[in-house]
Amino acid sequence: MSTATERRELLKAVYLEARGCVACQLSETRTNVVFGSGNADAELMFVGEAPGANEDLQGLPFVGAAGKLLDKLLDEIGMQRNDVFIANTLKCRPPDNRNPYPHELDSCQHWLFSQLELIQPTMVCTLGNFATKLLRGDPTGISKIHGQPEVRTIGPRAVRLYPLYHPAAALYTPSTLEMLRADFLRIPEILKLGAPPQPEPPEQIADTESATRGEKPTVGVDMSPRVEPAAPAEPETPAVSEQQLGLF
Ligand code: URA
Repeated sequence: MSTATERRELLKAVYLEARGCVACQLSETRTNVVFGSGNADAELMFVGEAPGANEDLQGLPFVGAAGKLLDKLLDEIGMQRNDVFIANTLKCRPPDNRNPYPHELDSCQHWLFSQLELIQPTMVCTLGNFATKLLRGDPTGISKIHGQPEVRTIGPRAVRLYPLYHPAAALYTPSTLEMLRADFLRIPEILKLGAPPQPEPPEQIADTESATRGEKPTVGVDMSPRVEPAAPAEPETPAVSEQQLGLF
């Protein structure tokens, strides 16, 4: 079992690797890889869809209008960004904010699974359809299952998965905002339940390498082998600063 410090260092290493990812064509149009940011040891993790224009420019998730709403909803339950970790299903912006393509989700998902494995949240809020379908391994739409917490095994760990509407969908639709807010208000009580019972570990994690490598999931999630980037991030990679990654 690795310590929080070891997991944090591994997360930084995964971030550096992700910055050089050229596994799909989104690498040709992105400004920045938006790896995710927040508390590397968070109990609560949010998973959105994909970076938009602001996120692509700043290299940080949820910094535009949807992000402001997310901040407000967090504030209403007494939480801040530095209490949570925020990531997306895709780490690069799809041009014109189009929906992610299935092959993009396939080739990008191992970054998210590494993040889940290293951060070890007890609760994961999926924001919108793409994150919800990916992490549930099921095509059921968000309007049917939002606000219904369930225990799901993702990779080697069980988490409390809590599907929510995407904040962007709530920006201009008051009835969606009402549902999102009502679901948000239940986050503290679900968090208080703590970690769900864990499945038997399939095998001992023997070294730091294997901690970032996808294991086969017990339920519902395809953790396909990671696609190694063809080239290193940069010829001379500087030490990653925690600020860069938005780590608290
Ligand atoms: N929408 C998302 O799903 N993710 C972001 O980072 C920003 C907007």
